[in-house]
Amino acid sequence: MSAANGRVAGKVALVTGAARGQGRSHTVALAAEGADVIALDLCAPVEGMAYRPATEADLEQTVREAEAAGGRVIPGVVDVRDLERLEEVIDAAVAELGGLDIVAANAGIVHLPAPAVETDPERWRAMIDTNLTGVWNTCRVAVPHIVAGGRGGAIAITSSAGALKGYPGVAGYIAAKHGLVGLTRSLAVELGPERIRVNHIAPTQVSTEMIHNEAIYKLFCPDSEEPTREEFAAASEAMHLLPVPWVEPADVTAALLFLVSDDARFITASTLPVDAGVNQH
Ligand SMILES: NC(=O)c1ccc[n+]([C@@H]2O[C@H](COP(=O)([O-])OP(=O)(O)OC[C@H]3O[C@@H](n4cnc5c(N)ncnc54)[C@H](O)[C@@H]3O)[C@@H](O)[C@H]2O)c1
Repeated sequence: MSAANGRVAGKVALVTGAARGQGRSHTVALAAEGADVIALDLCAPVEGMAYRPATEADLEQTVREAEAAGGRVIPGVVDVRDLERLEEVIDAAVAELGGLDIVAANAGIVHLPAPAVETDPERWRAMIDTNLTGVWNTCRVAVPHIVAGGRGGAIAITSSAGALKGYPGVAGYIAAKHGLVGLTRSLAVELGPERIRVNHIAPTQVSTEMIHNEAIYKLFCPDSEEPTREEFAAASEAMHLLPVPWVEPADVTAALLFLVSDDARFITASTLPVDAGVNQH
């Protein structure tokens, strides 16, 4: 990523799913580029997750790294499914930081793979509640603060390459991510007059704990008993136009910084793929 340049200097940003992975990368980069950051995460498992949940120690690590990068950070342990608590935490942090300009609605989970019609109902609900309603909750609380500031703002929603095409075994995830396209467009239409831009980023596989686990390896390598990282990499790379198995969190952060900075001041209601060409197939 390019060196810090004050691209969001003086702004206040909200990042959900900030404890690790892409959310940590976004938080640290926004701080390095001059923003104060409200960094929220559940720091606990969600039903149906088949990989290590983030912890409070992970969130503390994000805070340390973002503060070292130069920003002020207010962390919060909160479930994006819990509208009331989200409101409490965001309202208090915004009051302390004096406003809100940027939202990175990034929190998400993937469930244990299963065919669509065999998906456990509780897991289905967890996918929709976290990946779709959680983003709506985040925007529902955040937008009035941005509007109150009167200076416009930017919302970047993290969807997925799976917001634009189907993948087998994760129908709840895919349905929720497709829903984010509609949410992005609806918000962009309604918030344009307020000079609030709303876009979504659609990454292919990103090298985080969400994909580097046995359940996802098996989903991509159904013929292998115990698929290795190398087997998964080969299967994943075969889907891409560019010869890479996955992108890094920093690649998604570069897209996010572009979208929330003035470099993208006339871009709204758009999809920004960071997908090595996976959606050209
Ligand atoms: N890793 C990929 O291949 C990939 C690809 C496309 C899109 N995405 C999306 O990118 C986003 C970030 O994922 P990541 O790759 O960094 O994975 P990750 O698992 O490392 O990070 C996700 C973070 O979200 C948090 N979170 C989950 N449910 C939450 C809830 N209910 N409330 C608050 N926080 C919650 C987790 O605790 C975790 O810290 C997700 O929305 C994911 O769906 C990931």
